[in-house]
Amino acid sequence: MPSEAQRPESAPQSPPESRKIRAVRPDDAPHLAEILRRSPETVEWLPDAAGISATVSGGFLLVIESAQEVTGFLLARQAADEAEILNLAVHPANRRTGTATALLLAAIERFRAGHATRIFLEVRESNAPAIAFYRKHAFRQVGRRPNYYRQPEEAALILERSLNENSQG
Ligand SMILES: CC(C)(COP(=O)(O)OP(=O)(O)OC[C@H]1O[C@@H](n2cnc3c(N)ncnc32)[C@H](O)[C@@H]1OP(=O)(O)O)[C@@H](O)C(=O)NCCC(=O)NCCS
Repeated sequence: MPSEAQRPESAPQSPPESRKIRAVRPDDAPHLAEILRRSPETVEWLPDAAGISATVSGGFLLVIESAQEVTGFLLARQAADEAEILNLAVHPANRRTGTATALLLAAIERFRAGHATRIFLEVRESNAPAIAFYRKHAFRQVGRRPNYYRQPEEAALILERSLNENSQG
């Protein structure tokens, strides 16, 4: 039985047959709002789904469906060779089943196609599940911004992952 560290990144646990990743549609907006409402750990900022490309330069918003229900989303952007994950959240009922992993791998595929070499993101210092998730996917801490978040006030950790030829994913 492989340890956590040895488990291949490309093999999320029990991917449901019905899982599907696609670009956002305007009618996803209420589902995304509900996932955000149930995810107070994350930033509340989510551009209007219909206006995503206008709102975020170089951005894309992927959603994941399981049994035709939207169960999570990932918002990212890329400028030159630097990619940034702006938001990632999974409905609490669907966590720990590989949903965020599937979204991250799809985003990485797009970043690689766009010749990104590094991915950055910020996460609340107290957000242990998200930090564990990103560590599992080869992100490492490269900085800390004190008092970055509001309500509650908290530091952000800056995490980075390389996308060079030898990195997984
Ligand atoms: C962080 C988050 C996106 C992970 O989504 P997920 O679909 O549960 O993640 P996956 O199932 O793909 O990966 C699970 C892995 O992440 C880590 N992980 C996720 N939740 C964890 C928790 N509560 N405790 C410890 N590790 C956790 C573990 O390494 C886990 O692997 P394991 O189940 O084999 O132990 C989800 O918890 C979430 O939506 N949180 C609220 C929003 C948020 O904090 N977003 C990040 C802001 S940048």
